[in-house]
Amino acid sequence: MANGEVTVALLGGGTVGAQVARIIVENADDLAARIGAPLRLTGVAVRDLQKDRPGIPADLLTSDAAGLAASGADVVVELLGGIEPARELVGLALDAGSSVVSANKALMAQFGGELHDKAEANGVDLFYEAAVAGAIPLLRPLGDSLAGDRISRVLGIVNGTTNFILTKMTEAGADYDTTLAQAQALGYAEADPTADVGGLDAAAKAAILASLAFHTRVSMADVHCEGITEVTSADVAAASDMGYVIKLLALADLSDDGTGVSVRVHPTMVAESHPLAAVREAFNAVFVEADAAGEVMFYGQGAGGEPTASAVLGDLVTAARHRVTGSLGAAASTYNEVAILPIDDAVTAYYVNLDVEDVPGVLAAIAQVFADNGVSIAGVRQDGKGEDARLVVRTHAAREGAMSATLAALRDMGTVREIVGAMRVIDTPGVVA
Ligand code: NAP
Ligand code: HSE
Repeated sequence: MANGEVTVALLGGGTVGAQVARIIVENADDLAARIGAPLRLTGVAVRDLQKDRPGIPADLLTSDAAGLAASGADVVVELLGGIEPARELVGLALDAGSSVVSANKALMAQFGGELHDKAEANGVDLFYEAAVAGAIPLLRPLGDSLAGDRISRVLGIVNGTTNFILTKMTEAGADYDTTLAQAQALGYAEADPTADVGGLDAAAKAAILASLAFHTRVSMADVHCEGITEVTSADVAAASDMGYVIKLLALADLSDDGTGVSVRVHPTMVAESHPLAAVREAFNAVFVEADAAGEVMFYGQGAGGEPTASAVLGDLVTAARHRVTGSLGAAASTYNEVAILPIDDAVTAYYVNLDVEDVPGVLAAIAQVFADNGVSIAGVRQDGKGEDARLVVRTHAAREGAMSATLAALRDMGTVREIVGAMRVIDTPGVVA
């Protein structure tokens, strides 16, 4: 700190950066009162200096991102997105003794360990509340408020774009491409929306959540990831007929013996009575199950410039207060180092929809395949008859590996004409059946 001010360098002036700059300028007096010293924006790094940027003072714009990152500002706020040059610039800032606030889930999910080590070595803060679920206070509650509890599962909707698309497909039978374009126009989607629809954005967030919840380092590569590109209108309609909605869920759960954690992202049939089923449009919601707290749910806006800026500002105020008082937030807690389980060891219930021959013995043979692979059936229903016969099988929770083997064996049966659909399912709040 110099001259009684907390200096702030902003890397990025796009959807989120522009809102952060605006709030710093518009709320200057309140922020100064909360921090104990005024904030002074020293620069905003962008690529294109000619672009019109209402709310950002023109004299602060620079294309020299590296110079700004290494300028020794009290706090450097990284809102560029992507891995490079964000990783290099955050490294420069930490080495220059600046605390860093970032909204970059991809960066933190892949290089969080390296950057936390650098922050610790330099005695500065590294905060990234906005990287997961936009405006929703989630990382600080996990890392601080629940720090005395034992978390067993984190389960939620953490990607606004896909939730927006699935909501429109469910409620209006909307066309996928039109809805994706709408999500992009509203500023929810990443620059490259394949990260949203392919599940990678949610996978990065799942890695960050699992690291905090289980005090272990979980990176992007540890997360099993399936997006929504294969979800069809027919899947959505079939789920609806059975009283479910399809959601892209991020899940991280501890094995029963506490020695392993499974982290995954996949479309899931969620019972309409489950609170997550009511999370519509681009909203996000995360359930946390902990021994003493029980079930805790966080809900709010997970994307968009202003909501995300709110979380960035929260981190900025905290980091700035620490500069004023000469203190530091807690370092990353990674003492636990539990094993990351392969997807085959995840445990989940399934709905399987089969197009079958309608002759005596078919149901018994199919049930035998489930039994041979150790998958317990919770219920079976036949729809239609003759050429139109369909069997819908609901399983109890089983190992994914056993379920994959079951599906492979069903595919080989002459009496099974087609596996029309197979999807994980949850019924009870916070419990994967
Ligand atoms: P964006 O609109 O694409 O803005 C990125 C900004 O960074 C732009 O101003 C761009 O400059 C600048 N930039 C990129 N590369 C640069 C470089 N090499 N040198 C200098 N400037 C560079 O992205 P955003 O939506 O604001 O997202 C920012 C971060 O927030 C990302 O990590 C994203 O994942 C995260 N986030 C976004 C949301 C959301 O809803 N948008 C929600 C949560 C988290 P130009 O303007 O000149 O192109
Ligand atoms: N593209 C992301 C989403 C933005 O759709 O949720 C927040 O990370």
